[in-house]
Amino acid sequence: MGLRIQQTSYYVPPKIVTNDDLTQLMETSDEWITSRTGIKQRHLSENEQTSDLAYQVAKQLLAQANVEAKSVDFIIVATMSPDYQTPSTAALVQGRLGASQAFAFDISAACSGFIYALALADKLLQGSYQRGLVIGAETLSKLIDWQARSTAVLFGDGAGGVLVEAAPQVPGIVAEDLQTLGDQFQALTAGYLPLNSAFTKDSTEAKQHYFQMDGHAVYRFATHVVPDSVQKVVKQAQWSLADVDHFLLHQANGRMLKVIAQHLDQPLDKFLQNVAEFGNTSAASVPILLAQSVAQGLITRQQKLVLSGFGGGLTAGSLALIY
Ligand code: ACO
Repeated sequence: MGLRIQQTSYYVPPKIVTNDDLTQLMETSDEWITSRTGIKQRHLSENEQTSDLAYQVAKQLLAQANVEAKSVDFIIVATMSPDYQTPSTAALVQGRLGASQAFAFDISAACSGFIYALALADKLLQGSYQRGLVIGAETLSKLIDWQARSTAVLFGDGAGGVLVEAAPQVPGIVAEDLQTLGDQFQALTAGYLPLNSAFTKDSTEAKQHYFQMDGHAVYRFATHVVPDSVQKVVKQAQWSLADVDHFLLHQANGRMLKVIAQHLDQPLDKFLQNVAEFGNTSAASVPILLAQSVAQGLITRQQKLVLSGFGGGLTAGSLALIY
């Protein structure tokens, strides 16, 4: 039994903020942002929460597949920017969709979240479940200190997802590699929740609500761990790197994608990119890229794909799959 990606879809909030727009808020420039990251603009949410973005994707996926919400067995949302601590974002989507037969939960693995979620969906479909929605959705704008230029310029809001089904005689995911380096968690944190009992005072600064990132450490991590993880899944799948039609990596930074392509000795045009358009949307970045590339006809059935995420945790994960 394999996982078949039946439909792909994405949704981003309408407001576009360009690099030039950001120069009104902080001391930065289009030249600095473009040369360091490849990002030209990002979409930021004005009035839609993470669950609203995820709901749009879920609704589109069901409409495209022409299936009833009640036929969905599970909904997984990967996010690091949920509406609430509880309920999960996935529960909000499930309720609004009327997917009354589905169980729903979130996965917190930052920018690797969608990869972890899809790997888990694969296991569920090998069990007794038939159909699920796997969505990456973020409103990272609420975790940004808009005075902190070193992080504020990097991130965007959006959601992407897939409708997956159990399918006999479909290879689906043929190899996976999931890694967590929790001892390096401090390289990237966001959304700290201070202790707050009647008897405790947490001295941690409130600022820790916002992204705290050691950019150099994340850069080193990604440019070493990702090529290694990609090579692992390609080997497990008994493919060569040359066999892979497209690499869909987390869209954190165009410069990092170039370095990773060089490490792997693969042409850069096999690394699909949309970081210029959306910035870093964490768990949403890989499914947005997948859906956009399918819609543009770049990805077609039977192609060999490697999906790879990396980020907070620190986490990394790669999947080799036949689309
Ligand atoms: N505009 C102008 N100048 C800036 C800005 C800005 N937005 N941000 C920082 N600077 C300045 C710094 O203050 C520093 O100035 P100084 O030399 O006077 O001290 C100078 O630019 C250089 O800063 P660096 O941090 O050394 O710049 P670097 O070339 O390393 O690029 C970057 C920074 C883009 C963050 C890089 O380290 C990187 O890409 N790291 C990976 C981070 C990442 O991808 N994180 C997300 C992955 S995890 C996730 O997705 C949740």
